[in-house]
Amino acid sequence: MLTLFLVLSLAITSPSLSNLQSVGEWQVLHENIGISAMHMQLLRNNKVIMFDRTDFGSSNLSLPYGRCRHDPSDIILQMDCTAHSVLYDIATNSFRPLMVNTDTWCSSGSVLSDGTLLQTGGYNDGDRVVRTFTPCGDDNCDWIEYPSYLADRRWYATNQILPDGRVIVIGGRRVFNYEFFPRTTSNVFPPSSSTFWLNFLLETRDDEENNLYPFVHLLPNGNLFIFANTRAISLDYVKNKVVKQFPPIAGGVPRNYPSSGSSVLLPIDENKSSEAEVMICGGAQHGSFTQAITNRSFVRAINNCARLLVTDENPVWKMEDMPMARIMGDMLLLPTGDVLIINGAELGTAGWDNAAKPVTTPVIYQPKNEIEMRFHVMSPSPRPRMYHSAAILLTDGRVLVGGSNPHVFYNFTNVEFPTDLSLEAYSPPYLSFEYATMRPNIVYADQVVGYGQPFTITFNVLQYQAEDVLFVNIIAPSFTTHSIAMNQRMVVLRMVRISQVSLGMFNVGVMGPSSTNVAPPGYYLLFVVHAGIPSSGIWVKIQ
Ligand SMILES: *[C@@H]1O[C@H](CO)[C@@H](O)[C@H](O)[C@H]1NC(C)=O
Ligand SMILES: *[C@@H]1O[C@H](CO)[C@@H](O)[C@H](O)[C@H]1NC(C)=O
Ligand SMILES: *[C@@H]1O[C@H](CO)[C@@H](O)[C@H](O)[C@H]1NC(C)=O
Ligand SMILES: *[C@@H]1O[C@H](CO)[C@@H](O)[C@H](O)[C@H]1NC(C)=O
Repeated sequence: MLTLFLVLSLAITSPSLSNLQSVGEWQVLHENIGISAMHMQLLRNNKVIMFDRTDFGSSNLSLPYGRCRHDPSDIILQMDCTAHSVLYDIATNSFRPLMVNTDTWCSSGSVLSDGTLLQTGGYNDGDRVVRTFTPCGDDNCDWIEYPSYLADRRWYATNQILPDGRVIVIGGRRVFNYEFFPRTTSNVFPPSSSTFWLNFLLETRDDEENNLYPFVHLLPNGNLFIFANTRAISLDYVKNKVVKQFPPIAGGVPRNYPSSGSSVLLPIDENKSSEAEVMICGGAQHGSFTQAITNRSFVRAINNCARLLVTDENPVWKMEDMPMARIMGDMLLLPTGDVLIINGAELGTAGWDNAAKPVTTPVIYQPKNEIEMRFHVMSPSPRPRMYHSAAILLTDGRVLVGGSNPHVFYNFTNVEFPTDLSLEAYSPPYLSFEYATMRPNIVYADQVVGYGQPFTITFNVLQYQAEDVLFVNIIAPSFTTHSIAMNQRMVVLRMVRISQVSLGMFNVGVMGPSSTNVAPPGYYLLFVVHAGIPSSGIWVKIQ
C-alpha cells in the first residue's frame, strides 16, 4: 500500500524521491584495514585504492614477503615494514597491502582515460613524485613511482582531467602555479615552460592559508571553474588567462582547506540544457584555524550552502541553510542526481586535533526540489569521521566511508578522537528493500560509447512507471581526500526513445555525451534511474 502510494506521488511530482521514506543504513565492512583511508579512488575493476602517508610511524598492516621501506631521512621510522596503501575489493570485501615508497600525504589524483590512476605529489620526499596504479585482473599490480616528475611541490594541490585526456595539477601549499601531466605537450602556452603562474592562488592566500586544495570543476565551455578561499574564477588554462571573475561567495566565509567546506558540480543534464551549476557547502569563519591552534578553542562551523549557476552571464550565489553546521564534510553525487553530504565536524577546522563535535549524520540534498524540501537528515553512523576521513560512491550505489586520523601519528588511545582504521558502507534510502520492485536492472549496454553517438541500454524492472520518470546518467568516480572529490562529475544523457521489448524488459536509447568538455574521455559508471531508484552502475568507456 505504502509503495503504491509513493509511486503515485512520485510519478506526479519529480523523477527523484520527493518523500524519502527511509534514512539509509550503515554497515561496518571492516574494523581494521590496517591503514587510515585518507585518500580513496574507485577503479574500473571495482577495486578501491586507498592510502594515507608514509612518515608518521608504522601502520597496522605488514607488507608482504618481508618487504620494508628504507628511508634514512625519515625522522620517525627509518625502516618501516608496514603498508600505507591498500587495494580493497568490493565483491569479496577483502583487501591487500600495496607498496608505496615516498610520502603521499595530502596529495591529489585523477584517473586517466585508460583507467590508470595518476597520483601526484605529497609531502617530504614525495612532494614532486608522480605515481601510477594500473588496475589488473590478478593480485600483481602495485604502485609505480616517478621521482621528481613534477616541476613544483604539490602538497594540497587539486587535479582535474582535461578534455584532451591530460591532467592539470593546480596549486599546492605556497605554490601559485599549475602544471600538466604528461609534462611536455605542443598545445600549451608558452610551450617552453612547464609551470604556469596563477596569481589568483597568491591573491586568495591569507594568514591561515585558506586557499589550499582549491575547488576545480571543468565547465561545458572547456574552461575551469576554480574556487579558493572566498573567490572564484573561470580559467582558460590553454591561454593561461582568467576569463571571468565570479562574485565572491556571499557572507565572505572561507571554504577551502583548512576552513574545509566541500564543493560539487551539480549534474549536467544534457536531456535539458547545457547549464552548469556549482554548489559549495560548509566551511569555517576566518580566524577559526588560528583560534584552534593558538587557543584550543573550536569555533562553530558555518551551516550554509551556496549555489552558483556558472554558465549564467551574471550569476549570483544563492544561499541555503543546511540542517546543521559542518566542517570537513564530503560531498558526493549520488546516481539519483542528489548530493550526499557526509563526515566532518561541527566545531573547529581541518588540521591536527583542530576539531570537535563530530557530525555523524549525513544529509541528502535534492537540488531540483522546492527550496524547503531539499535537505533530508539521514541516519547517523556510530563513528566520528574527522580530519583525514573520506567517502566515495561505489558501483552498487552504496557509499564507502573510511579514515579519520586527526593526529600526527596513528594514535589509538589517550586521544579524544582516535585514528580510525575501519571501513563502513552507507546505503542511501534508494537501496532500501521497499523499492526493489522499482529498481532497474541493466541486462545489456555497449561498453564503449562515442561522443554524440546513440546507444542502447536494455534493462528490466518489475513495476514500470512511465517514461518521464526515467533517466540515464554517467558518473566519473572521484578521487576523494580532505573533503574534496576531484574529477567528480555526472552527466544526464539525452534520451532518444524508450521501447518495451517484452514484459518488464525495456530498451532505452540515449546519446553519448555531446563533447569532451562535458565528459572527458575515460571510464564512467552508467546508471539507469527509474522513479528515483537507480540501477547498479556498469562501466562504460567514453571515447
Ligand atoms: C595490529 O593491531 C593489533 C591489535 O592492536 C596487533 O595485535 C597487531 O600486532 C598489529 N599489527 C601490526 C602489523 O601492526
Ligand atoms: C582564547 O579563548 C578565550 C576563551 O574562549 C577567548 O576569550 C580568547 O579571546 C581567545 N584568544 C585568542 C587569541 O583567540
Ligand atoms: C601518539 O603516538 C606517538 C607515536 O607512537 C606517541 O609518541 C605519542 O605519545 C602518542 N600520543 C598520545 C596522546 O598518545
Ligand atoms: C528528457 O527530454 C525529453 C524531451 O525533451 C522529455 O520528454 C523527458 O521528459 C526528459 N526526461 C527527463 C527525465 O527529464
